[in-house]
Amino acid sequence: MAKFVVSGGVPLCGVLDIQGAKNSVLPIMAAALLADGDCVIEHCPDISDTDCAIEILSELGAFVSQKRDVDGSRTVYINSSNALGFEIPDKMMRKMRSSVIFLGAILSRRGRALISFPGGCELGPRPIDLHISSLRKMGVRINETHGFLDCECERLHGTDIDLAFPSVGATENIMLAAALCDGETVINNAAKEPEIEDLQNFLNKMGARISGAGTGCIKINGVHRLNGVRHRVIPDRIAAGTYLCAVAATRGNALLKNAEPSHMSSTLAFLSDCGCDIKVFDKDISVSCDELHSVRHIRTMPYPGFPTDMQAVFMALMTKAKGNSVFIETIFENRFKHIGELHRMGANITTDGRVAVVEGVKKLYGAHVESTDLRGGASLIIAALAAEGTSIIDNIFHIDRGYDHIENALSALGAQITREQ
Ligand code: UD1
Repeated sequence: MAKFVVSGGVPLCGVLDIQGAKNSVLPIMAAALLADGDCVIEHCPDISDTDCAIEILSELGAFVSQKRDVDGSRTVYINSSNALGFEIPDKMMRKMRSSVIFLGAILSRRGRALISFPGGCELGPRPIDLHISSLRKMGVRINETHGFLDCECERLHGTDIDLAFPSVGATENIMLAAALCDGETVINNAAKEPEIEDLQNFLNKMGARISGAGTGCIKINGVHRLNGVRHRVIPDRIAAGTYLCAVAATRGNALLKNAEPSHMSSTLAFLSDCGCDIKVFDKDISVSCDELHSVRHIRTMPYPGFPTDMQAVFMALMTKAKGNSVFIETIFENRFKHIGELHRMGANITTDGRVAVVEGVKKLYGAHVESTDLRGGASLIIAALAAEGTSIIDNIFHIDRGYDHIENALSALGAQITREQ
């Protein structure tokens, strides 16, 4: 199993281009199932979740090819004319739990879908009740047996859906199911994440009639046909936030290019609050940092609040800040697994349920640790970069799910990090 070996203590300095957004590319690839004609998706991150989405599309019968661009990102070509499959094998559902976002598109296209229940995962239970109840309201008959979902429908029909929680995946699934259905669908309490807006833009380019993404109310007027289009995925706000934290943790200075600062207000505000000098120039962000102090009460919230995906990496930053920081994780039940590993490096963190209190220490020390999940793994890299000595980080397949060759990005900033088998 591959691992990262990191020698800490080097301030990160330089310029870095930001990858395309993982959380945009996945629903957009699912949306390509709905197109008559070729879809060309640019700026796809080279991550294992994109590979998994390609596997699912191919399994369903779509023709998928890709080419590597000069900037290292990928352009993915998808033709779904022969995508008549309706089953996603269990091993693919398990590999990427967000594979459930293919459900709405498969149903819209085939009127039938057979998938396994994504079940619990490293962040705690991840139910899909909101996906299921919304699709039922649109006319889908869903049979749940022994961990499998057998779904069937004639034509989907528009309806009003009030989400009990602004679930990102459920909002996307409804948009994908509703784009080609009869009549109007209204999603109330919809998720407002920028990736939802990117999905709306992609679908509207294809000929869909969707408005409201970015607000809590999305309206989808079903159309009869969607065309193939070319689209560039938005920058990854979580990858950008991770690199800003890495630079700050090593007291370095860097310029992130081709980011989307307007999607990162809450992250940038917290970084400024703890002592980072952040400057925004259109699509670029500069960061420099000499001294860090704690930030009280970091509460994860749906967008535009502080992202749960930034919690672990920001916590790694706070381990060496002066004073106490309090983290409250409101989105996922079990998103503190990285804390045990940060302890091994000398961090002082106590937890009580969904609350974690970080007392800044003067030094972290290199250690042998294990990634527990995607963002938790990234938090260990940040701590290792800020630590004295050498760290070994195991189970890095979690990190490869969402970061496009993180070791290359960090090495470009001067980090001493290598991937070893
Ligand atoms: C998406 C992101 C993930 C991010 C999360 C929250 C993608 C591919 N992934 O995940 O990186 O951490 O948003 O911003 O975009 N819930 C239910 N029932 C449901 C659906 C969700 O109870 O039917 C709960 C979940 O268990 C969780 C919360 O709602 O506690 C948020 O989930 P959701 O917004 O759906 O996250 P994902 O779409 O899975």
